[in-house]
Amino acid sequence: MSLINQVIKSKKTDLNPIWIMRQAGRYLPEFREIRKKNTDFIKLCLNYNLATEITLQPLKRFELDAAIIFSDILMLPYGLNQKVEFKKNFGPILGKLNLQEISNFNEKDFTKKLKPVYTAINLVRKNDLTLNKSTIGFVGAPWTLLVYLINRKSPKQKLITDFFEDLHSIKKILLVLDKFLKIHIKNQIDNGAEIIQIFDSWAGLLEKKDLPSYVYSPTLSLVEYVKSLNVPVICFPRGIKDYKIYCDNIKPDVICIDYEVDPIQIRKDIKIPVQGGVDPKVLLSDKENLKKEVKKYLDIFKDHPYIFNLGHGVLPQTDPNMMDYLVKMVKDY
Ligand code: CP3
Repeated sequence: MSLINQVIKSKKTDLNPIWIMRQAGRYLPEFREIRKKNTDFIKLCLNYNLATEITLQPLKRFELDAAIIFSDILMLPYGLNQKVEFKKNFGPILGKLNLQEISNFNEKDFTKKLKPVYTAINLVRKNDLTLNKSTIGFVGAPWTLLVYLINRKSPKQKLITDFFEDLHSIKKILLVLDKFLKIHIKNQIDNGAEIIQIFDSWAGLLEKKDLPSYVYSPTLSLVEYVKSLNVPVICFPRGIKDYKIYCDNIKPDVICIDYEVDPIQIRKDIKIPVQGGVDPKVLLSDKENLKKEVKKYLDIFKDHPYIFNLGHGVLPQTDPNMMDYLVKMVKDY
C-alpha cells in the first residue's frame, strides 16, 4: 500500500508522505518547454501523451508519494461543451453559460470529450514511476465550478454583486454539476485514480449563512459518492473559517488545510487525517526559513495522521531547488 493510503486507512503517524498541489506545472522548466510549444492549454490537457509526461515530471525529480494528474477543474465545463480558454497572464475565461445545453447534455458525449484525460490517468497509473505511490484524480467542488460558470473568470476578492440574482438557475446548475461531477469522478476511478481530491478554491468567498446550501450539501453528495466507490476522498475548502464544522458536516477521509488557518487549532479540533498547510510563499524565501516553517507543521502533527503538502498550489516563481530541499527535508524528518 502507498504511504498516503497507509496514513488514510491505517492512520499511521510516522510516515510523513508528501505531494504538492500544482506539483506538475509552471515552476518546472521542463513543463514550460512543453507549454511554449502548446499554446492552447485545453488541447494540452487533452494530449494524453503530453499530459502523462507532465504528470510524471515532478516524480522524476523529487521523491514524491503521489502523482496528481495534469488536467484542470475547468475541464468539466469544457466536457459540457462550454467555451473555456486560458489567457496568458490572466487565467481562465469562460463563455456565456448555456443552461439549456448543459441540462440536456448526453453522458456519453461528455465521457467521450474527456476520454484523453482518462487515458492519461491510465498511462500514469501503469508507469513504473508511480509504483507504490498514489495516483490522485480530482474535481472542482460544485461551489467553485459555479463561481467560474457565473463569474466567467477568477473572482478577485469577492463575488460580483448580482451573483445570487437568479436562484432558480443556480439550483439547476448545481444539479447538473452534481450529475456530471459524479460521472467525471467515476471515470477517473475506473481508469486508475486511487484517491480523489475535491478543490473548493473559492469556499472562502461565502458568508457563513450560505455555506450549508452551497458548500456542505453539494460537497457531501460527492463525498458520499466517492466513499461508495471505496475510494478515499480529500477535501480542500480553501479559506473556510471553520474547518471543524466543515469536517463534522462533510466527513471527508482527509481534510486539506490552507495556509491561513492555525495548525495548532486544527490539531486540537480535528480527529481525521490532515493534509497541507504550509504557505507556498516560504518556498520563495531561504532554506533556513523554509526549514523552520516545515518543521513547525511536522512537529505539530507528529502524533497525528498527516500528509505533507502546502496550503495552496506551488507558485510559478518557485525555484525547483527549493522544492528538492523541501521534499528531502520531509523525508529525513
Ligand atoms: O496539481 C497539479 O499539478 C495538477 C494540475 C492542476 C492544474 N489545475 C493545472 C493547471 C490542478 C489540480 C488544477 C486545479 C485548479 N484549476 C484549481 C484548484 C486549485 C487552486 O489553485 O485553487 C483552480 C481554481 C483551477 C482553475 C485555473 N486553472 C486557474 C485559475 C488557472 C490560471 C491561474 C493559475 O493558477 O495557473 C488555471 C491554469 C492552470 N491549471 C495551469 C496549470 C499548470 C497554468 C497554465 C499555464 O498557463 O501554463
